[in-house]
Amino acid sequence: MTTSMAPQTHLPEKKALNWAELGFSYQPTEYRFRAIHKDGHWSEGELITSDMISVHEGAPALHYAQQCFEGLKAQTAPDGRVLLFRPTLNAERMRQAAGRLLMPEVPEALFIRGVEEAVRANYAWIPPHGSGASLYIRPMLIGVGQNLGLKTAKEFEFRVFVSPVGPYYKSAGLAVISLAVSDLDRAAPSGTGNYKIGANYAGGLLATRMAQDLGANEALFLDARERRYIDEAGSANIVVAMKDGRFVTPASTAVLPSVTRRSIMTLAEQEMGLTIEHRAIDLRAEIANFEEVAACGTAAVISPVGRIYVDGQWHRFYGNGELAGPVMQKLYGLLVGIQRGELTDKNNWTHNVSL
Ligand SMILES: Cc1ncc(COP(=O)(O)O)c(C=O)c1O
Repeated sequence: MTTSMAPQTHLPEKKALNWAELGFSYQPTEYRFRAIHKDGHWSEGELITSDMISVHEGAPALHYAQQCFEGLKAQTAPDGRVLLFRPTLNAERMRQAAGRLLMPEVPEALFIRGVEEAVRANYAWIPPHGSGASLYIRPMLIGVGQNLGLKTAKEFEFRVFVSPVGPYYKSAGLAVISLAVSDLDRAAPSGTGNYKIGANYAGGLLATRMAQDLGANEALFLDARERRYIDEAGSANIVVAMKDGRFVTPASTAVLPSVTRRSIMTLAEQEMGLTIEHRAIDLRAEIANFEEVAACGTAAVISPVGRIYVDGQWHRFYGNGELAGPVMQKLYGLLVGIQRGELTDKNNWTHNVSL
């Protein structure tokens, strides 16, 4: 929910960072939020200053990847308000991941409070409006405490840290990226690909490396059963504007339910009148019908995909694979405009952090 309340004047000075030069990397900030789950209960939670976590050497998070995480951003509106984008969807996704990994759920109220407290306490690190940068927020839930056998942890830590970031892909604004179809699988059809858990990502590092060796930015994963249908990229969902005008995103049980993608699909229909479809996309059979492709996510925002490497050859899309097409440009403008509080937020997607 947004309100038109102007921020108060007692706010701390912003840090003297070169906001426009920020990349997507960790920049230490002063505070982080921590709550502990023990004996069946969550602690109240508190702000702490140490960026280290001390865990037992037998912690299930370390051995068996009993952990999940989230990623969202805070942005500064033209009037100085600090806006989160649909944070309850991140809270919900983390609860689902926790359930899948037999971890205690972080209640929505605790999740939102942890995010808000971490953002507010680090106000000086929130990039100003117009800088092109934003404050990335990383909530995480990890199984800690002594353990050896393969069983669930007895103690859990919920932590939220933040870091100001610039664009995920190096060039500013709408960087046109490229993908290479991976020979490796990211997720099994009834596995854990639809949860944001660390276990899905370590296996993808090599796939990314292999894609980069081919000159692409990221790997594109196909479904693991038939290696035929598009699943997603290493850290982003895929959307395709077809030559027949339809706007399509893969229906797959193995992809992360991206908050960005869900929002883009709504905007494509609501604001652009496009016919949207969630369906399996047979890459080789349909690639000739792709007009524009994009990777989308909190970090990637909407990154137009100019080229995809499939079976030994590059396929190029809009503008010979070098330009952002009009559909993705329009969607980028709509999405970012809402996230930054520049456009009317008809769907009540932004959440005002009281300062
Ligand atoms: C594998 C994967 N897919 C998709 C996304 C996009 O999800 P969201 O839009 O919720 O950030 C992410 C995270 O950014 C991701 O890690």
